[in-house]
Amino acid sequence: MKILLLGKNGQVGWELSRSLQTLGEVIATGSSDLNVADAAALSARVRTLKPDVIVNAAAYTAVDKAESESDLARAINAEAPAVLAREAAELGALLVHYSTDYVFDGSGNTPRNEQAATGPLSVYGVTKLAGEQAIAASACRHLIFRTSWVYAARGGNFAKTMLRLASERDQLKVVADQFGAPTGADLIADVTAHAIRRTLDEPARQGLYHLVAAGETTWFDYARYVIEWARTQGRAIKVAPDQIHAIATTEFPVPAKRPLNSRLDTHKLRSAFDVHLPAWQWGVERMLAEYTSQA
Ligand SMILES: NC(=O)c1ccc[n+]([C@@H]2O[C@H](COP(=O)([O-])OP(=O)(O)OC[C@H]3O[C@@H](n4cnc5c(N)ncnc54)[C@H](OP(=O)(O)O)[C@@H]3O)[C@@H](O)[C@H]2O)c1
Repeated sequence: MKILLLGKNGQVGWELSRSLQTLGEVIATGSSDLNVADAAALSARVRTLKPDVIVNAAAYTAVDKAESESDLARAINAEAPAVLAREAAELGALLVHYSTDYVFDGSGNTPRNEQAATGPLSVYGVTKLAGEQAIAASACRHLIFRTSWVYAARGGNFAKTMLRLASERDQLKVVADQFGAPTGADLIADVTAHAIRRTLDEPARQGLYHLVAAGETTWFDYARYVIEWARTQGRAIKVAPDQIHAIATTEFPVPAKRPLNSRLDTHKLRSAFDVHLPAWQWGVERMLAEYTSQA
């Protein structure tokens, strides 16, 4: 089996380039060898390679910058998936794609399932939703995974930033009114490989799924969890527990509006693919253990 992976250098793409290896031959590309915003080049590459599976982990993910670069965000997040869907339909290939909690308006306080009404608040969310819709409207076999609050062991992430700030400052302010589940890129990649296998065996499993770690937290509680973990490991932490302050989203102005409720209901994914999704703390601790053993 031949698999074309787009976005090999990203958080999820890097982990996919590992997890897809047992499925078949993986041809992995990054932005320097294939610009997905170039529709003609993207089509031509797919037609030349003729993959059985296309996994699209390439995305415009600079949420705030997207507010002023909407054309580029649209080309990468909406038009490229549409091109891939057309080419996948033509070839009979399975297309795997990722989307986000940002397709929702963030109202309410319960987890949303795949049927819930969308209502993106930002350019990033609008373009990601358009990408999903282009794939769903096409005739191609597909898997779309909506995920949230992605972190990876490789590169920077929220938890690593909090650890650094906690060792430098004696006071921290963290947003406490956005709810979601931090989800490891390794978990997303492993579930993807499993789901591809099952969907190739039984095409009726194709469709849209929510894929996040179990449980929920806020950025504030996530930060406290990470800092307390580091304290118990004997790391040099400057900030006192009572000097980590909860603030409202409105006190931390950024260009793109964030959903307050990013809780995603994963029931459909767990029952369709027989997967267990671990509590978010498990993956975060594993990533921190790996990071702090190297730092
Ligand atoms: N990060 C999150 O918190 C989050 C939350 C929910 C959903 N998601 C979704 O999950 C998926 C994976 O996200 P991620 O966190 O792994 O993203 P990421 O780390 O930002 O990686 C995105 C990758 O896209 C590639 N890319 C960007 N523009 C490109 C272009 N014009 N042509 C080709 N490649 C291009 C980049 O390639 P190069 O590095 O080679 O330049 C980059 O490695 C995305 O669909 C994203 O929308 C992410």
